Amino acid sequence: MSQSFDVIAIGAGPGGYIAAIRAAQLGFKVACIDEWKNPAGGPAPGGTCTNVGCIPSKALLQSSEHFEHASHHFADHGISTGKVTMDVAKMVGRKDTVVKQNNDGILYLFKKNKITFFHGRGSFVKAVEGGYEIQVTGDKPETLVGKQVIVATGSNARALPGTPFDEETVLSNDGALRIGAVPKKLVLIGSGVIGLEMGSVWRRLGADVTILEGLPTFLGAVDEQIAKEAKKAFDKQGLKIELGVKVGDIKTGKKGVSVTYTNAKGEALTLDADKLIVSIGRVPNTIGLNAEAVGLQLDERGAIVVDAECRTSLPGVWAVGDVVRGPMLAHKAEEEGVAVAERIAGQHGHVNFNTIPWVIYTSPEIAWVGRTEQQLKADGVAYKAGTFPFLANGRARALGDTTGMVKFLADATTDEILGVHIVGPMASELIAEAVVAMEFKASAEDIARICHAHPSLSEATKEAALAVDKRTLNF
Ligand code: FAD
Ligand code: NAI
Repeated sequence: MSQSFDVIAIGAGPGGYIAAIRAAQLGFKVACIDEWKNPAGGPAPGGTCTNVGCIPSKALLQSSEHFEHASHHFADHGISTGKVTMDVAKMVGRKDTVVKQNNDGILYLFKKNKITFFHGRGSFVKAVEGGYEIQVTGDKPETLVGKQVIVATGSNARALPGTPFDEETVLSNDGALRIGAVPKKLVLIGSGVIGLEMGSVWRRLGADVTILEGLPTFLGAVDEQIAKEAKKAFDKQGLKIELGVKVGDIKTGKKGVSVTYTNAKGEALTLDADKLIVSIGRVPNTIGLNAEAVGLQLDERGAIVVDAECRTSLPGVWAVGDVVRGPMLAHKAEEEGVAVAERIAGQHGHVNFNTIPWVIYTSPEIAWVGRTEQQLKADGVAYKAGTFPFLANGRARALGDTTGMVKFLADATTDEILGVHIVGPMASELIAEAVVAMEFKASAEDIARICHAHPSLSEATKEAALAVDKRTLNF
Protein backbone atom coordinates (compact mmCIF):
# COMPACT_ATOMS: atom_id res chain seq x y z
CA MET A 1 0.00 0.00 0.00
CA SER A 2 1.38 3.38 -0.89
CA GLN A 3 1.03 6.51 1.22
CA SER A 4 -0.23 9.61 -0.60
CA PHE A 5 0.91 13.20 -0.09
CA ASP A 6 0.10 16.54 -1.65
CA VAL A 7 3.80 17.45 -1.72
CA ILE A 8 6.92 15.28 -1.46
CA ALA A 9 10.32 16.96 -1.06
CA ILE A 10 13.28 14.74 -1.98
CA GLY A 11 16.27 15.98 0.02
CA ALA A 12 16.25 17.72 3.40
CA GLY A 13 18.99 20.28 2.81
CA PRO A 14 18.10 24.00 3.03
CA GLY A 15 16.16 23.72 -0.25
CA GLY A 16 14.09 20.64 0.62
CA TYR A 17 13.38 21.04 4.32
CA ILE A 18 12.42 24.71 4.00
CA ALA A 19 10.17 23.93 0.99
CA ALA A 20 8.52 21.18 3.09
CA ILE A 21 7.91 23.56 6.03
CA ARG A 22 6.44 26.28 3.82
CA ALA A 23 4.21 23.73 2.04
CA ALA A 24 2.99 22.44 5.41
CA GLN A 25 2.31 26.02 6.58
CA LEU A 26 0.16 26.43 3.48
CA GLY A 27 -2.02 23.49 4.54
CA PHE A 28 -0.61 20.68 2.38
CA LYS A 29 -0.02 17.09 3.51
CA VAL A 30 3.77 16.91 3.16
CA ALA A 31 6.52 14.28 3.17
CA CYS A 32 10.27 14.89 3.11
CA ILE A 33 12.79 12.15 2.24
CA ASP A 34 16.49 12.36 3.06
CA GLU A 35 19.20 9.72 3.05
CA TRP A 36 22.00 11.44 5.03
CA LYS A 37 23.20 9.27 7.94
CA ASN A 38 24.80 10.46 11.17
CA PRO A 39 27.78 8.45 12.51
CA ALA A 40 25.34 6.13 14.34
CA GLY A 41 23.41 5.47 11.12
CA GLY A 42 20.42 7.60 12.14
CA PRO A 43 18.90 10.47 10.19
CA ALA A 44 20.88 13.69 9.80
CA PRO A 45 18.63 16.15 7.94
CA GLY A 46 20.08 19.47 6.87
CA GLY A 47 22.03 18.33 3.82
CA THR A 48 25.48 19.50 2.83
CA CYS A 49 24.88 22.81 4.59
CA THR A 50 24.29 21.31 8.03
CA ASN A 51 26.48 18.21 7.86
CA VAL A 52 29.56 19.10 5.78
CA GLY A 53 29.14 22.71 4.69
CA CYS A 54 27.99 26.05 6.07
CA ILE A 55 27.50 25.08 9.71
CA PRO A 56 30.56 22.89 10.47
CA SER A 57 32.87 25.18 8.49
CA LYS A 58 31.69 28.20 10.48
CA ALA A 59 32.16 26.27 13.74
CA LEU A 60 35.81 25.54 12.83
CA LEU A 61 36.33 29.10 11.57
CA GLN A 62 35.10 30.40 14.93
CA SER A 63 37.31 28.06 17.00
CA SER A 64 40.39 28.81 14.92
CA GLU A 65 39.72 32.54 15.08
CA HIS A 66 39.51 32.39 18.89
CA PHE A 67 42.86 30.55 18.81
CA GLU A 68 44.38 33.21 16.57
CA HIS A 69 43.10 36.01 18.80
CA ALA A 70 44.35 34.35 21.98
CA SER A 71 47.74 33.64 20.36
CA HIS A 72 48.35 36.99 18.69
CA HIS A 73 45.89 39.70 19.67
CA PHE A 74 44.93 39.31 23.35
CA ALA A 75 48.28 40.81 24.39
CA ASP A 76 47.27 44.12 22.74
CA HIS A 77 44.40 44.28 25.24
CA GLY A 78 46.72 43.61 28.18
CA ILE A 79 45.68 39.97 28.48
CA SER A 80 48.51 37.49 28.90
CA THR A 81 47.78 33.84 28.37
CA GLY A 82 51.12 32.05 28.27
CA LYS A 83 51.46 29.54 25.47
CA VAL A 84 48.12 28.89 23.84
CA THR A 85 47.42 25.33 22.75
CA MET A 86 44.71 23.81 20.60
CA ASP A 87 43.04 20.47 21.27
CA VAL A 88 41.98 19.66 17.69
CA ALA A 89 39.91 16.64 18.75
CA LYS A 90 37.91 18.86 21.10
CA MET A 91 37.47 21.52 18.43
CA VAL A 92 36.18 18.90 15.96
CA GLY A 93 33.98 17.38 18.70
CA ARG A 94 32.42 20.78 19.38
CA LYS A 95 31.78 21.16 15.65
CA ASP A 96 30.05 17.74 15.64
CA THR A 97 27.83 18.84 18.54
CA VAL A 98 26.84 22.00 16.67
CA VAL A 99 25.97 19.86 13.62
CA LYS A 100 23.89 17.46 15.77
CA GLN A 101 21.99 20.39 17.35
CA ASN A 102 21.06 21.54 13.86
CA ASN A 103 20.03 18.00 12.74
CA ASP A 104 17.83 17.66 15.83
CA GLY A 105 16.40 21.13 15.27
CA ILE A 106 15.21 20.13 11.78
CA LEU A 107 13.66 16.86 13.06
CA TYR A 108 11.81 18.96 15.66
CA LEU A 109 10.60 21.34 12.92
CA PHE A 110 9.27 18.37 10.90
CA LYS A 111 7.24 17.26 13.93
CA LYS A 112 6.06 20.77 14.72
CA ASN A 113 4.83 21.23 11.15
CA LYS A 114 3.34 17.70 10.90
CA ILE A 115 5.68 16.76 8.04
CA THR A 116 6.20 12.99 7.60
CA PHE A 117 9.95 12.36 7.40
CA PHE A 118 11.34 9.28 5.65
CA HIS A 119 14.99 8.35 6.21
CA GLY A 120 16.27 6.77 3.02
CA ARG A 121 16.80 7.35 -0.67
CA GLY A 122 13.91 8.67 -2.73
CA SER A 123 13.69 7.60 -6.38
CA PHE A 124 11.16 8.16 -9.11
CA VAL A 125 9.34 4.99 -10.15
CA LYS A 126 6.72 6.24 -12.62
CA ALA A 127 4.11 8.85 -13.33
CA VAL A 128 0.72 7.80 -11.97
CA GLU A 129 -2.76 9.29 -12.20
CA GLY A 130 -2.47 12.76 -10.63
CA GLY A 131 1.18 12.53 -9.55
CA TYR A 132 4.32 10.42 -9.23
CA GLU A 133 5.20 7.21 -7.48
CA ILE A 134 8.33 7.56 -5.35
CA GLN A 135 10.18 4.61 -3.84
CA VAL A 136 11.95 5.11 -0.52
CA THR A 137 14.81 2.65 0.00
CA GLY A 138 16.55 2.41 3.34
CA ASP A 139 15.88 0.82 6.71
CA LYS A 140 12.11 0.98 6.16
CA PRO A 141 11.27 0.79 2.44
CA GLU A 142 8.06 2.62 1.50
CA THR A 143 6.13 3.47 -1.62
CA LEU A 144 4.76 7.00 -1.75
CA VAL A 145 2.65 8.92 -4.21
CA GLY A 146 3.03 12.69 -4.46
CA LYS A 147 0.76 15.02 -6.38
CA GLN A 148 3.67 17.49 -6.50
CA VAL A 149 7.35 16.61 -6.10
CA ILE A 150 10.11 19.06 -5.17
CA VAL A 151 13.59 17.73 -5.98
CA ALA A 152 16.28 19.23 -3.72
CA THR A 153 19.06 16.68 -3.97
CA GLY A 154 21.94 19.18 -3.73
CA SER A 155 25.49 18.80 -5.00
CA ASN A 156 28.72 16.88 -4.47
CA ALA A 157 32.36 18.00 -4.47
CA ARG A 158 34.07 17.90 -7.87
CA ALA A 159 37.15 15.64 -7.92
CA LEU A 160 40.23 16.23 -10.06
CA PRO A 161 40.26 13.76 -12.99
CA GLY A 162 42.33 10.73 -11.97
CA THR A 163 42.51 11.77 -8.30
CA PRO A 164 39.49 10.45 -6.42
CA PHE A 165 38.84 11.59 -2.85
CA ASP A 166 40.08 9.07 -0.26
CA GLU A 167 39.14 11.47 2.59
CA GLU A 168 42.41 10.53 4.34
CA THR A 169 45.02 12.32 2.22
CA VAL A 170 42.99 13.72 -0.70
CA LEU A 171 40.07 15.49 0.91
CA SER A 172 36.79 16.96 -0.25
CA ASN A 173 34.92 19.37 2.02
CA ASP A 174 33.81 16.29 4.00
CA GLY A 175 37.33 15.14 4.95
CA ALA A 176 38.54 18.73 5.27
CA LEU A 177 36.10 19.20 8.16
CA ARG A 178 37.32 16.03 9.94
CA ILE A 179 41.11 16.51 9.98
CA GLY A 180 42.20 15.12 13.34
CA ALA A 181 45.51 16.96 13.88
CA VAL A 182 47.04 20.14 12.52
CA PRO A 183 48.87 19.13 9.32
CA LYS A 184 52.42 20.46 9.04
CA LYS A 185 51.89 21.19 5.37
CA LEU A 186 48.56 21.55 3.65
CA VAL A 187 47.92 22.12 -0.05
CA LEU A 188 44.57 23.21 -1.41
CA ILE A 189 43.63 23.26 -5.08
CA GLY A 190 41.21 26.07 -5.90
CA SER A 191 41.21 29.44 -4.17
CA GLY A 192 37.45 29.86 -4.22
CA VAL A 193 35.20 30.02 -1.21
CA ILE A 194 36.07 26.63 0.32
CA GLY A 195 39.80 26.99 -0.41
CA LEU A 196 39.96 30.32 1.41
CA GLU A 197 37.74 29.31 4.34
CA MET A 198 39.39 25.92 4.97
CA GLY A 199 42.86 27.30 4.21
CA SER A 200 42.24 29.99 6.84
CA VAL A 201 41.18 27.47 9.51
CA TRP A 202 44.35 25.39 9.23
CA ARG A 203 46.69 28.36 8.67
CA ARG A 204 45.42 29.89 11.94
CA LEU A 205 46.11 26.62 13.74
CA GLY A 206 49.71 26.57 12.53
CA ALA A 207 49.74 24.65 9.23
CA ASP A 208 51.93 25.83 6.36
CA VAL A 209 49.18 26.40 3.79
CA THR A 210 49.53 26.81 0.01
CA ILE A 211 46.54 27.32 -2.25
CA LEU A 212 47.02 26.58 -5.97
CA GLU A 213 44.59 28.44 -8.21
CA GLY A 214 44.18 27.79 -11.92
CA LEU A 215 42.94 31.24 -12.89
CA PRO A 216 45.33 34.19 -13.18
CA THR A 217 43.01 36.48 -11.18
CA PHE A 218 42.21 36.19 -7.50
CA LEU A 219 38.48 35.86 -6.73
CA GLY A 220 37.41 36.88 -10.22
CA ALA A 221 33.71 37.16 -9.25
CA VAL A 222 34.47 39.67 -6.48
CA ASP A 223 34.82 43.43 -7.06
CA GLU A 224 38.48 43.89 -8.09
CA GLN A 225 39.26 46.56 -5.49
CA ILE A 226 37.79 44.40 -2.72
CA ALA A 227 39.57 41.24 -3.92
CA LYS A 228 42.87 43.15 -4.01
CA GLU A 229 42.40 44.36 -0.43
CA ALA A 230 41.52 40.84 0.73
CA LYS A 231 44.55 39.34 -1.02
CA LYS A 232 46.81 41.87 0.72
CA ALA A 233 45.42 40.76 4.08
CA PHE A 234 45.78 37.03 3.28
CA ASP A 235 49.39 37.57 2.08
CA LYS A 236 50.16 39.34 5.36
CA GLN A 237 48.72 36.42 7.33
CA GLY A 238 51.01 33.99 5.52
CA LEU A 239 48.32 32.24 3.48
CA LYS A 240 50.27 31.41 0.31
CA ILE A 241 48.12 31.73 -2.80
CA GLU A 242 49.65 30.90 -6.19
CA LEU A 243 47.60 32.10 -9.15
CA GLY A 244 47.67 30.91 -12.76
CA VAL A 245 48.98 27.42 -12.01
CA LYS A 246 48.41 24.24 -13.96
CA VAL A 247 48.17 21.23 -11.71
CA GLY A 248 49.89 18.10 -13.03
CA ASP A 249 50.46 14.70 -11.38
CA ILE A 250 49.26 14.01 -7.87
CA LYS A 251 50.82 11.09 -6.04
CA THR A 252 49.74 9.84 -2.63
CA GLY A 253 51.85 7.64 -0.37
CA LYS A 254 52.44 6.75 3.27
CA LYS A 255 54.00 10.14 3.95
CA GLY A 256 51.23 12.19 2.39
CA VAL A 257 50.82 13.70 -1.02
CA SER A 258 53.01 15.14 -3.72
CA VAL A 259 51.53 17.70 -6.13
CA THR A 260 53.36 18.71 -9.29
CA TYR A 261 52.33 21.87 -11.04
CA THR A 262 53.50 24.56 -13.43
CA ASN A 263 53.39 28.07 -12.02
CA ALA A 264 52.41 31.27 -13.84
CA LYS A 265 56.04 31.74 -14.98
CA GLY A 266 56.01 28.29 -16.59
CA GLU A 267 58.31 26.73 -13.96
CA ALA A 268 57.68 23.08 -13.09
CA LEU A 269 57.39 22.67 -9.31
CA THR A 270 56.47 20.02 -6.74
CA LEU A 271 54.81 20.52 -3.37
CA ASP A 272 54.88 17.79 -0.73
CA ALA A 273 52.23 17.96 1.94
CA ASP A 274 50.50 15.90 4.62
CA LYS A 275 47.05 16.55 3.18
CA LEU A 276 45.48 17.88 -0.01
CA ILE A 277 42.08 19.56 -0.08
CA VAL A 278 40.52 19.73 -3.54
CA SER A 279 38.08 22.65 -3.67
CA ILE A 280 37.47 23.24 -7.38
CA GLY A 281 33.69 23.60 -7.33
CA ARG A 282 30.72 21.28 -6.96
CA VAL A 283 28.54 19.21 -9.29
CA PRO A 284 24.74 18.88 -9.12
CA ASN A 285 23.64 15.58 -7.56
CA THR A 286 20.96 13.39 -9.10
CA ILE A 287 22.57 10.05 -8.17
CA GLY A 288 19.87 7.58 -7.17
CA LEU A 289 16.98 9.84 -8.19
CA ASN A 290 16.17 7.62 -11.20
CA ALA A 291 15.36 10.75 -13.21
CA GLU A 292 15.33 8.73 -16.44
CA ALA A 293 12.35 6.61 -15.25
CA VAL A 294 10.08 9.64 -15.64
CA GLY A 295 12.07 11.49 -18.33
CA LEU A 296 13.19 14.36 -16.07
CA GLN A 297 15.46 16.54 -18.21
CA LEU A 298 19.05 17.22 -17.10
CA ASP A 299 21.54 19.59 -18.76
CA GLU A 300 25.11 18.76 -19.85
CA ARG A 301 26.41 19.51 -16.30
CA GLY A 302 23.93 17.06 -14.80
CA ALA A 303 21.79 19.86 -13.33
CA ILE A 304 18.01 19.52 -13.50
CA VAL A 305 16.71 21.89 -16.17
CA VAL A 306 14.27 24.42 -14.68
CA ASP A 307 12.63 27.64 -15.79
CA ALA A 308 12.90 30.90 -13.84
CA GLU A 309 10.24 29.60 -11.42
CA CYS A 310 11.89 26.20 -10.76
CA ARG A 311 9.48 24.21 -12.95
CA THR A 312 11.18 21.16 -14.49
CA SER A 313 10.39 19.51 -17.82
CA LEU A 314 7.65 17.48 -16.05
CA PRO A 315 4.31 18.86 -14.85
CA GLY A 316 4.08 18.80 -11.04
CA VAL A 317 7.84 18.27 -10.59
CA TRP A 318 9.92 21.18 -9.32
CA ALA A 319 13.62 21.45 -8.48
CA VAL A 320 15.48 23.90 -6.21
CA GLY A 321 18.91 24.65 -4.75
CA ASP A 322 22.30 23.28 -5.81
CA VAL A 323 20.78 20.73 -8.19
CA VAL A 324 19.61 23.54 -10.51
CA ARG A 325 21.25 26.58 -12.15
CA GLY A 326 22.36 29.61 -10.16
CA PRO A 327 24.68 30.16 -7.22
CA MET A 328 25.24 27.20 -4.90
CA LEU A 329 24.23 28.95 -1.68
CA ALA A 330 22.05 27.78 1.19
CA HIS A 331 19.95 30.95 1.30
CA LYS A 332 19.33 30.77 -2.48
CA ALA A 333 18.12 27.17 -2.04
CA GLU A 334 15.82 28.27 0.81
CA GLU A 335 14.33 31.16 -1.14
CA GLU A 336 13.60 28.86 -4.08
CA GLY A 337 12.05 26.28 -1.72
CA VAL A 338 9.68 28.86 -0.21
CA ALA A 339 8.76 30.27 -3.63
CA VAL A 340 7.98 26.81 -5.06
CA ALA A 341 5.73 25.88 -2.13
CA GLU A 342 3.87 29.16 -2.62
CA ARG A 343 3.55 28.60 -6.39
CA ILE A 344 2.10 25.12 -5.72
CA ALA A 345 -0.49 26.90 -3.53
CA GLY A 346 -1.30 29.24 -6.41
CA GLN A 347 0.53 32.14 -4.82
CA HIS A 348 3.14 34.42 -6.32
CA GLY A 349 6.52 33.07 -5.13
CA HIS A 350 9.35 35.59 -5.25
CA VAL A 351 13.12 35.16 -5.66
CA ASN A 352 15.22 38.15 -6.68
CA PHE A 353 18.48 36.83 -8.11
CA ASN A 354 19.89 40.38 -8.21
CA THR A 355 19.85 40.68 -4.42
CA ILE A 356 21.32 37.37 -3.30
CA PRO A 357 24.20 38.19 -0.96
CA TRP A 358 27.53 36.34 -0.99
CA VAL A 359 29.76 36.02 2.04
CA ILE A 360 33.22 34.50 2.41
CA TYR A 361 33.81 33.89 6.12
CA THR A 362 37.54 34.53 6.18
CA SER A 363 39.23 37.19 8.25
CA PRO A 364 38.69 39.81 6.94
CA GLU A 365 35.24 38.70 5.83
CA ILE A 366 34.24 39.43 2.25
CA ALA A 367 30.59 40.15 1.43
CA TRP A 368 28.76 41.60 -1.51
CA VAL A 369 25.42 42.05 -3.21
CA GLY A 370 24.66 43.30 -6.71
CA ARG A 371 27.07 44.11 -9.48
CA THR A 372 30.82 44.71 -9.26
CA GLU A 373 32.62 47.69 -10.77
CA GLN A 374 34.04 45.48 -13.54
CA GLN A 375 30.53 44.17 -14.38
CA LEU A 376 29.10 47.70 -14.57
CA LYS A 377 31.93 48.71 -16.92
CA ALA A 378 31.32 45.63 -19.08
CA ASP A 379 27.56 46.39 -19.13
CA GLY A 380 28.26 50.01 -20.11
CA VAL A 381 26.40 51.39 -17.08
CA ALA A 382 27.32 54.92 -15.92
CA TYR A 383 27.94 54.68 -12.17
CA LYS A 384 29.38 56.55 -9.19
CA ALA A 385 31.54 54.80 -6.59
CA GLY A 386 32.04 55.66 -2.92
CA THR A 387 34.34 53.90 -0.47
CA PHE A 388 34.97 54.26 3.26
CA PRO A 389 37.85 52.51 5.06
CA PHE A 390 37.35 50.79 8.43
CA LEU A 391 40.58 52.56 9.46
CA ALA A 392 38.45 55.70 9.92
CA ASN A 393 35.68 53.93 11.87
CA GLY A 394 35.76 54.31 15.67
CA ARG A 395 34.18 50.93 16.43
CA ALA A 396 36.67 49.13 14.17
CA ARG A 397 39.54 50.83 16.02
CA ALA A 398 38.05 49.82 19.37
CA LEU A 399 37.67 46.24 18.12
CA GLY A 400 41.27 46.29 16.93
CA ASP A 401 40.35 45.33 13.37
CA THR A 402 40.59 48.16 10.87
CA THR A 403 41.26 46.07 7.74
CA GLY A 404 39.21 46.80 4.65
CA MET A 405 36.41 49.03 3.49
CA VAL A 406 32.80 49.40 2.44
CA LYS A 407 32.20 50.28 -1.20
CA PHE A 408 28.99 51.54 -2.80
CA LEU A 409 28.23 51.59 -6.51
CA ALA A 410 25.25 53.71 -7.53
CA ASP A 411 23.65 54.67 -10.83
CA ALA A 412 25.21 57.94 -12.07
CA THR A 413 21.81 59.41 -12.98
CA THR A 414 19.26 57.97 -10.54
CA ASP A 415 21.62 57.24 -7.60
CA GLU A 416 19.98 53.78 -7.24
CA ILE A 417 22.32 51.37 -5.47
CA LEU A 418 23.69 48.84 -7.98
CA GLY A 419 26.15 47.00 -5.77
CA VAL A 420 27.66 47.03 -2.28
CA HIS A 421 30.97 45.34 -1.56
CA ILE A 422 32.59 44.92 1.83
CA VAL A 423 35.89 43.52 3.02
CA GLY A 424 36.43 43.80 6.74
CA PRO A 425 35.12 42.92 10.19
CA MET A 426 31.56 41.50 10.36
CA ALA A 427 31.00 42.04 6.64
CA SER A 428 28.61 39.05 6.82
CA GLU A 429 26.26 41.01 9.10
CA LEU A 430 26.78 44.44 7.51
CA ILE A 431 25.75 43.22 4.05
CA ALA A 432 22.14 42.68 5.24
CA GLU A 433 21.49 46.42 5.25
CA ALA A 434 22.65 46.66 1.64
CA VAL A 435 20.41 43.72 0.63
CA VAL A 436 17.37 45.40 2.19
CA ALA A 437 18.28 48.70 0.55
CA MET A 438 18.64 47.12 -2.88
CA GLU A 439 15.44 45.07 -2.51
CA PHE A 440 13.59 48.34 -1.83
CA LYS A 441 15.45 50.03 -4.72
CA ALA A 442 17.01 52.58 -2.38
CA SER A 443 19.39 55.27 -3.55
CA ALA A 444 22.83 55.80 -1.98
CA GLU A 445 21.41 59.03 -0.54
CA ASP A 446 18.66 57.06 1.25
CA ILE A 447 21.32 55.17 3.20
CA ALA A 448 23.38 58.33 3.72
CA ARG A 449 20.36 60.03 5.34
CA ILE A 450 19.53 57.17 7.74
CA CYS A 451 20.67 57.47 11.38
CA HIS A 452 23.19 54.68 12.18
CA ALA A 453 24.17 53.86 15.79
CA HIS A 454 27.46 55.22 17.05
CA PRO A 455 29.95 53.70 17.48
CA SER A 456 29.16 50.87 15.09
CA LEU A 457 30.69 49.27 12.03
CA SER A 458 27.47 50.12 10.19
CA GLU A 459 28.55 53.76 10.24
CA ALA A 460 31.12 52.74 7.62
CA THR A 461 28.16 51.72 5.42
CA LYS A 462 26.54 55.12 5.87
CA GLU A 463 29.86 56.86 5.21
CA ALA A 464 30.46 54.84 2.02
CA ALA A 465 26.99 55.91 0.86
CA LEU A 466 27.95 59.52 1.63
CA ALA A 467 31.19 58.98 -0.30
CA VAL A 468 29.15 58.35 -3.46
CA ASP A 469 28.30 62.07 -3.25
CA LYS A 470 31.89 62.89 -2.16
CA ARG A 471 30.81 64.09 1.29
CA THR A 472 32.11 61.66 3.90
CA LEU A 473 32.10 63.19 7.38
CA ASN A 474 34.86 61.19 9.07
CA PHE A 475 37.40 60.73 6.29
P1 FAD B 1 22.05 19.97 0.01
O1 FAD B 1 22.29 20.79 1.21
O2 FAD B 1 23.21 19.33 -0.64
O3 FAD B 1 21.03 18.84 0.47
C1 FAD B 1 20.65 17.81 -0.36
C2 FAD B 1 20.15 16.65 0.50
O4 FAD B 1 19.49 15.71 -0.32
C3 FAD B 1 21.26 15.89 1.22
O5 FAD B 1 20.91 15.69 2.56
C4 FAD B 1 21.32 14.55 0.47
O6 FAD B 1 21.70 13.47 1.31
C5 FAD B 1 19.87 14.40 0.06
N1 FAD B 1 19.65 13.53 -1.10
C6 FAD B 1 20.25 13.59 -2.31
N2 FAD B 1 19.71 12.67 -3.14
C7 FAD B 1 18.73 12.05 -2.44
C8 FAD B 1 17.79 11.05 -2.75
N3 FAD B 1 17.70 10.51 -3.97
N4 FAD B 1 16.95 10.64 -1.78
C9 FAD B 1 16.99 11.19 -0.53
N5 FAD B 1 17.85 12.16 -0.20
C10 FAD B 1 18.70 12.58 -1.14
N6 FAD B 1 26.35 28.17 1.47
C11 FAD B 1 26.04 29.31 2.10
O7 FAD B 1 25.06 29.96 1.75
N7 FAD B 1 26.81 29.78 3.14
C12 FAD B 1 27.90 29.12 3.57
O8 FAD B 1 28.57 29.57 4.51
C13 FAD B 1 28.25 27.92 2.92
N8 FAD B 1 29.33 27.22 3.32
C14 FAD B 1 29.63 26.06 2.70
C15 FAD B 1 30.77 25.37 3.10
C16 FAD B 1 31.14 24.21 2.48
C17 FAD B 1 32.38 23.48 2.94
C18 FAD B 1 30.32 23.67 1.44
C19 FAD B 1 30.67 22.38 0.77
C20 FAD B 1 29.18 24.34 1.03
C21 FAD B 1 28.83 25.54 1.64
N9 FAD B 1 27.72 26.29 1.24
C22 FAD B 1 27.42 27.46 1.86
C23 FAD B 1 26.84 25.81 0.16
C24 FAD B 1 25.57 25.14 0.74
O9 FAD B 1 25.95 24.08 1.59
C25 FAD B 1 24.68 24.63 -0.37
O10 FAD B 1 24.42 25.67 -1.29
C26 FAD B 1 23.36 24.13 0.18
O11 FAD B 1 23.57 23.08 1.11
C27 FAD B 1 22.45 23.64 -0.94
O12 FAD B 1 21.26 23.19 -0.39
P2 FAD B 1 20.38 22.07 -1.13
O13 FAD B 1 19.17 21.87 -0.28
O14 FAD B 1 20.20 22.42 -2.54
O15 FAD B 1 21.27 20.75 -1.12
P1 NAI C 1 34.44 27.82 -6.08
O1 NAI C 1 33.74 27.80 -7.37
O2 NAI C 1 34.14 28.86 -5.09
O3 NAI C 1 36.02 27.89 -6.32
C1 NAI C 1 36.69 26.95 -7.11
C2 NAI C 1 38.03 27.52 -7.51
O4 NAI C 1 38.82 26.47 -8.04
C3 NAI C 1 37.93 28.59 -8.59
O5 NAI C 1 38.69 29.71 -8.21
C4 NAI C 1 38.48 27.91 -9.83
O6 NAI C 1 39.09 28.79 -10.72
C5 NAI C 1 39.47 26.94 -9.22
N1 NAI C 1 39.75 25.76 -10.04
C6 NAI C 1 38.86 25.00 -10.73
N2 NAI C 1 39.51 23.97 -11.32
C7 NAI C 1 40.82 24.08 -11.01
C8 NAI C 1 41.97 23.32 -11.30
N3 NAI C 1 41.91 22.20 -12.05
N4 NAI C 1 43.16 23.72 -10.81
C9 NAI C 1 43.25 24.84 -10.04
N5 NAI C 1 42.20 25.61 -9.72
C10 NAI C 1 40.99 25.23 -10.19
O7 NAI C 1 34.22 26.34 -5.48
P2 NAI C 1 34.48 25.75 -4.03
O8 NAI C 1 35.41 26.59 -3.25
O9 NAI C 1 34.78 24.32 -4.26
O10 NAI C 1 33.07 25.87 -3.36
C11 NAI C 1 31.92 25.31 -4.00
C12 NAI C 1 30.73 26.15 -3.76
O11 NAI C 1 30.26 25.95 -2.44
C13 NAI C 1 30.96 27.65 -3.86
O12 NAI C 1 30.94 28.11 -5.17
C14 NAI C 1 29.81 28.17 -3.09
O13 NAI C 1 28.69 28.20 -3.92
C15 NAI C 1 29.64 27.13 -2.00
N6 NAI C 1 30.28 27.61 -0.77
C16 NAI C 1 29.82 28.75 -0.20
C17 NAI C 1 30.40 29.25 0.94
C18 NAI C 1 29.92 30.54 1.50
O14 NAI C 1 28.87 30.99 1.08
N7 NAI C 1 30.62 31.14 2.43
C19 NAI C 1 31.51 28.56 1.61
C20 NAI C 1 31.94 27.40 0.89
C21 NAI C 1 31.32 26.94 -0.23
